[in-house]
Amino acid sequence: MSIWSGHRILEKHSLLLIVAILVVVSIGGLVQIAPLFYLESTIEKVQGVRPYAPLELAGRRIYMREGCYVCHSQMIRPLRDEVERYGHYSLAAESMYDHPFQWGSKRTGPDLARVGGKYSDEWHKDHLIDPRAVVPESVMPPYAFLMKKTIDADAVVEEVKAQKAVGVPYTDDMITHAKADVLAQADPNADGSDAVAQRYPKAQVRDFDGQPGVSEMDALIAYLQMLGTTVDFSTYQADAPANRR
Ligand code: HEC
Repeated sequence: MSIWSGHRILEKHSLLLIVAILVVVSIGGLVQIAPLFYLESTIEKVQGVRPYAPLELAGRRIYMREGCYVCHSQMIRPLRDEVERYGHYSLAAESMYDHPFQWGSKRTGPDLARVGGKYSDEWHKDHLIDPRAVVPESVMPPYAFLMKKTIDADAVVEEVKAQKAVGVPYTDDMITHAKADVLAQADPNADGSDAVAQRYPKAQVRDFDGQPGVSEMDALIAYLQMLGTTVDFSTYQADAPANRR
């Protein structure tokens, strides 16, 4: 009796067939699932990716609070039209410290994964205060009130701690200085503004909204201006060991 005629037995006994199906599916499942318990991480580490500086984290919180994600995605797909429009496709590692991630797929407005450095701070400020003053046909709502709201630095420190609790590698040093860093990143003359860029490489330190104090506008622009800028794509090569930390 060949192995194929043996299969007839399965075809005639539905219960036996179900058991056999379960066996096959569990083998397939094990092959896929078991390695995940032994791998330290499924995301390849890429040089340059770092946790958000406290002010950027505050900006990210405002981005979520205001529902910017309802109209903007943050994931460039590896398709030619997207790459030509927005830049290098998004790497998994670039959102490894995003809790929760902001990928999305709803694009009423453009993808923002690499909006950092595309416009000046002034442009972002004018655009957020009144989008139609900059882009007449825009349907984006105005966020002028962000200029008037001051950042609660203590709340940002709590958020940094919360992010650490879910696995973002903030060091004790980062947490100790988090409150000072929130204020120093938006004020280049503050003591410790150099330390921000040391703790968070490539962090941009300047007065983002052009008015004294640290407003929610400062935080949101700091966040927008860093999006997609931490990885240097002029040297990045997928699978190159040099890109791993
Ligand atoms: C109702 C949908 C909607 C919401 C909500 C929204 N936007 Fe927009 N956004 C748009 C549209 C449409 C455009 C394109 C026209 C323009 O530039 O205003 C845009 C453009 C932008 C741009 C320029 C992107 C580029 O590459 O030119 C930025 C930056 C931006 N939005 C940030 C934000 C932020 C930050 C928030 C939340 C505070 C937000 N948007 C909320 C619809 C939205």
